Amino acid sequence: MKSKRDLLTLNDLGAEGILAVVHRAEALKQERIRGEKLSRPLEGKSVALIFEKPSTRTRVSFEVGVFELGAHPVVLNARDTQMGRGEPIEDTARVLSRYVHAIVLRTFADATMEALAKHATVPVINALTDGGHPCQILADLQTVLQRKGKLSGLKYAWVGDGNNVANSWIEACALLDLELTLAVPEGYEPSRPMDNVRIKLVRDPQQAVRDADVVITDVWASMGQEAESAKRAAAFAGYCITPELLSVSAPDVMVLHCLPAHRGEEIHEIYLDGPDAAVWDEAENRLHAQKALLEYLVR
Ligand code: CP
Ligand code: NVA
Repeated sequence: MKSKRDLLTLNDLGAEGILAVVHRAEALKQERIRGEKLSRPLEGKSVALIFEKPSTRTRVSFEVGVFELGAHPVVLNARDTQMGRGEPIEDTARVLSRYVHAIVLRTFADATMEALAKHATVPVINALTDGGHPCQILADLQTVLQRKGKLSGLKYAWVGDGNNVANSWIEACALLDLELTLAVPEGYEPSRPMDNVRIKLVRDPQQAVRDADVVITDVWASMGQEAESAKRAAAFAGYCITPELLSVSAPDVMVLHCLPAHRGEEIHEIYLDGPDAAVWDEAENRLHAQKALLEYLVR
């Protein structure tokens, strides 16, 4: 079988791969800004993008990114395919591998992603599962690099749900040896191991954001958890990112949110609508980071 590289979790890239992708993403962004003729390293290839959950950023940034790399994106809503009628993911993997040069999947269980990767002979990319969102963190790291000029030597804080995005941040910080403090209410801890001295879990949001250079949050109820919204809103009271909370952070603290966001719930509107909002660059960087990722994985 042809050897292939996947991105199921950031561990698949390792520190070296993450840094290569993030730096290349920035180079691709600058090329695009300068209006240079874009290189088309995936000319003549095709990439399947399969969605079992809703998406705006991931879907559009991957579709445009694949196009800009010279390849053809095949975007599939899983419900409209035989997957939606119960065809096993293993069989889908085998069939799609005969047509396309990479498969990008957004799904629920991590086991589904793992089964796809195991049976596909082309690279598989995790475009969000219940357990992780590695592509988001590549774009987030690029955004930090742009604004702070470095990744190391900064204090990172996560405030809110220990969800898929938090899990991928834990992986990134463990791999890159970054200092991360997570403030998460009891019962909402991340599922990834935090067996790293530079990664701490606390309950008090103020403790997490004290002196922080980068503060990250996300919605309190992720896709598939809508029925728990009221219970979660009660559990997360006091975990909203506000100027008052961040008054103890570094003076030039930046706030990241993968979006979509709920203004006034997990995040104050100023971090979305204010002149220094980083979240729009963060969203844009999905395009550049995923182009760099595809270049890195697809041969
Ligand atoms: N951040 C993110 O993954 O957004 P979408 O759900 O719109 O793809
Ligand atoms: N944690 C969120 C991220 C959305 C991009 C969710 O899974 O719904």
